[in-house]
Amino acid sequence: MEELLNNYTSVFPDTATSWVRVGHTSDFPENGGACVKHGKLQIAVFNFSLTSKWYACQNLCPHKLEMVLSRGMTGDTDGIPKVACPLHKKTFSLEDGSNLNGESYQIATYPVKIQDNMVYIGFSDK
Ligand code: FES
Repeated sequence: MEELLNNYTSVFPDTATSWVRVGHTSDFPENGGACVKHGKLQIAVFNFSLTSKWYACQNLCPHKLEMVLSRGMTGDTDGIPKVACPLHKKTFSLEDGSNLNGESYQIATYPVKIQDNMVYIGFSDK
């Protein structure tokens, strides 16, 4: 199972080597999340429609290794967009994947861009 976690590594806009189209903006719920697959990866994509911002992170919660984060509660703490796992409420920053409960669990995040109403996620081959 640890192997699953190792599949996920954060990508930043300037380290993305490819941008993968994952759907139309209307495919994603407003102020909510949806899961997309990219190879072996499951990626949670979040549409913060109130702020017109999009975020992506691993769908795998590192706490019990469950593929659930796309179904988590979203919100923000002091302006940091976040998702809380629906199972045990571990909470993660969608900006850098850090754990907002002060625990060691972290998640990988990915850049998102919108072009012509299509949603793209940035990945790195490295
Ligand atoms: S599985 Fe996500 S917090 Fe426990």
